[in-house]
Amino acid sequence: MAKKFYITTPIYYVNASPHIGHSYTTIAADTLARHMRASLGDENVWFLTGTDEHGQKIKRAADDQSLSPQEFVDKVVVQFKDLWVKLGISNNDFIRTTEDRHIVFVQKALEILYNDGKGDIIYKDNYEGLYCTPCETFWTPMQAEGQLCPDCKRPVEKISEVNYFFRTSKYQQWLIDHIRKNPFFIRPEVRRNEVLSFLTLNPLNDLCISRPRERLNWGIPLPFSQDHVAYVWFDALINYISAVGAFDEKGNYRSAWWQDDSQVVHLVGKDILRHHAVYWPIMLHALGIRPPDTIFAHGWWLMGENKMSKSRGNVASPLEMADKYGVDTYRYFLLRDVPFGLDGNFSEDAIIRRFNADLANDLGNLVFRTLTMIEKYYGGVVPEQGTLDEKGRYIASEAKDLHEHVAAILGVADFDFGSALEKIWEVINLANKYVEETKPWNLAKENKVKELEAFIRLLVEVIRQVDICLYPFMPRTAESIRGQIGEKMISKGNPLFPRINL
Ligand code: MSP
Repeated sequence: MAKKFYITTPIYYVNASPHIGHSYTTIAADTLARHMRASLGDENVWFLTGTDEHGQKIKRAADDQSLSPQEFVDKVVVQFKDLWVKLGISNNDFIRTTEDRHIVFVQKALEILYNDGKGDIIYKDNYEGLYCTPCETFWTPMQAEGQLCPDCKRPVEKISEVNYFFRTSKYQQWLIDHIRKNPFFIRPEVRRNEVLSFLTLNPLNDLCISRPRERLNWGIPLPFSQDHVAYVWFDALINYISAVGAFDEKGNYRSAWWQDDSQVVHLVGKDILRHHAVYWPIMLHALGIRPPDTIFAHGWWLMGENKMSKSRGNVASPLEMADKYGVDTYRYFLLRDVPFGLDGNFSEDAIIRRFNADLANDLGNLVFRTLTMIEKYYGGVVPEQGTLDEKGRYIASEAKDLHEHVAAILGVADFDFGSALEKIWEVINLANKYVEETKPWNLAKENKVKELEAFIRLLVEVIRQVDICLYPFMPRTAESIRGQIGEKMISKGNPLFPRINL
C-alpha cells in the first residue's frame, strides 16, 4: 500500500454557479480523502480542488456581465469556495489557474517542452479546422457532421490560423502500452476499454496547444510567442502538478505528493475522460513525470433524459438541496443512490425516499432507540460489556470487522461507495432486527439485568463502529452521534433524521 495519497477533482469552470454535477465529484473526492486519512494519517493525504479560470467561455461570460474577466472570476470563485465549506469539503488546497504560482509553472513547463524538444515536441503550424467555442475543441469535418459539435451539438466555426502544436502522436504507442500494463490506470473497466479502442483504432492527432492573442487574450501567454496564449485545457490539466510541486533548475519536477510511493488519483466525470486519460499522461510523460495511478471517470446526473448542465439550463442547486434536506443527506444520497461510474437520475423524490428509509428508519431509529433505553434503564450511563448470546456474538463480530470490509471495498480503484454504504447498512439492520427479536423491554420486565446490559452495550458497540465507517461519508452526522453517545454517558438530544412526510 502506498504511503501517501493524493486525490484531485477537476478544476471547475467558473463561467456559472456550481451545480449538482460539480458537487458530486467533490463530495466523492472528499469521502475518499477522509477515508484515507483514517488509515494513512492526516499528514499523508492531500486533497486538491480548484477552478479553471481562463479561456473563451469565461471571457464570454464576463463580457455578458460587463465585467473584466478577472473581476468576473473573482466574483464567481467565491460561490465555489463557499459551497465547499457548506458541504463539509476537507480540501487541503484550492488552486485557481489565474494565480501566479500556476501561471509561472505553466510557462516553465511550456519552456521545458519547447527547449528540450527542439521542435520535436512543440512545433508551429498553420491550422484549419472546425472549432466549437463552448467546448474549446477543434473537430475534423468527419467528427463535426452537419457542422455541429459532436459533444454539445452546437454549430462549429471554420477557423484558419497559425498555432503551436504538441506532438502527441509521438507518444501514442507508449500510452497504449501503459494502459495495457496497468489495469487500474483508467477505471471503471468500461472506460478503460473505451480509451484503449479509441487509441488503437485511430491515429492520435497532435494537440493544438495555443490560441492567437488577437482572437483570445484571456489566457497564459506562451513564453516563446508574444502572439499566443496557452489553450485552456493545456493550462488547466497542469494544475494537478503546479499545486503540489515545482521544477528545479535542471527542469526536474519535485513534489512531496507526486512521488513513487504515493497513490495519485484523479476523479473526473466521463465527459472529460479523454483529456485526462490521453492528453494528460502524454503531457506528463513528455515532461519526465510519471502518470497518475488512477483516473476514475464517474457517470452523469441526468434530469430526465439529459445531462444536467448549465448550458442546457436544467441544473439543480446543491445549496438549495443541502438547505432543504441537510448536507449529510445530500452527500449520502449522491453516493448511495447510483453506483459510482454509472449515470443516475436526479430527483427530490428519490432523496426523500432515501431519507425516510435509510436515514430516519434505519440509522436514526437505531441511534435513538439505543439512547432512549440507556436513559430509561441506566439513567444515561453507558452500561458495561456483558456476555452475549450467539446472535449477539455474530452481530458483534460483524460490527468489529465492518471497517475492514469498508476499507477493502474502497481500497479497490473502483471506489464503490454504494457497496460500502450497503455494507454499513447491513450491520445497522442486523442490529435493528436484533432489537425487534430480543424485545429488550421484556428483558427489563423479567428483570434479566445481565442480559439487558449486554444487549444494550452491544448496540452501543455497533453504533460506534458504524459511526467510524460513516464518518467519511457523513462527517457531521458521525460527529453528532459521537456527541450523543459518549464514552461513559449519553446526551440524548433530538432524533437525527425526523421523517419527512409527503
Ligand atoms: N474545467 C474543466 C475541467 C478541467 S480539469 C483539468 C471542466 N469543468 S466543468 O466545470 O465543466 O466541470 C466538469 C466536471 O463537473 C465533470 O467532469 C464532472 O466532474 C462534473 N460534472 C458536471 N456536470 C455533471 C453532471 N451532470 N453529472 C455529474 N458530474 C458532472 O470540464
